[in-house]
Amino acid sequence: MVELYRRRAPRYDLTSHLYWLIGYPVDRYRREGIDGLRLRPGDTVVELGCGTGHNLPLLREAVGSEGRVIGVDLTDAMLAQARHRVERAGWCNVELVHSDAAAFAWPPRVDGVVSTYALTIVPEFDAVVRRAAAALGPGKRMVVVDLKAPKGWPRWVLRAVVALVRPFGVTIGLAERHPWESMRRHFVSVEVREHYLGTTYVAIGESGSSATGRQP
Ligand SMILES: C[S@@+](CC[C@H](N)C(=O)[O-])C[C@H]1O[C@@H](n2cnc3c(N)ncnc32)[C@H](O)[C@@H]1O
Repeated sequence: MVELYRRRAPRYDLTSHLYWLIGYPVDRYRREGIDGLRLRPGDTVVELGCGTGHNLPLLREAVGSEGRVIGVDLTDAMLAQARHRVERAGWCNVELVHSDAAAFAWPPRVDGVVSTYALTIVPEFDAVVRRAAAALGPGKRMVVVDLKAPKGWPRWVLRAVVALVRPFGVTIGLAERHPWESMRRHFVSVEVREHYLGTTYVAIGESGSSATGRQP
């Protein structure tokens, strides 16, 4: 996976924008996910699999100059692109962490966790969701935006669609992974919204009002 994203990194922003050509409104889904976090100025937000930093401007806007944005990614070359973005913008409160999401050392205070088009490719996604839920303060939210296999589609149609997103590491095997079900296990309340013929979901999980029994 790291090798694939190392190769993709220099052109990732350009190629990911090409999805507009098939009418896939990726920026709308990013915005919907980040709005779903209900961040406030001064909050700390963690993005898992932040890639080249597409979401950083929206996250930075939501937490303001007194908040903290932490972008985590496994691929050094993707983080290098994100670092350029941060330097160009001159943000002092955006940190980039080179880490597997499964091994991330969570900070003591977290007010929001987001992952867009990344969590399904993390094999330990269930443990990642569990740790995110444990790290979040009471009443705080985790949002996952990602692709999924729509219900009832024949396997051959699914294979044709997967071919379009294969350059981003998507394989048909990933259809068996359901991070939104992990969210239902580890969060008190979860809303799952489907988009684009059921190929995309925005899942919003809210942690309970008490931290009792939560284990990192
Ligand atoms: C399709 S890109 C999405 C990037 C970004 N979230 C976006 O919406 O544009 C997937 C990203 O997940 C990262 N990734 C893959 N496995 C990971 C893992 N185990 N931990 C952290 N990041 C991972 C890749 O390096 C890549 O940057």
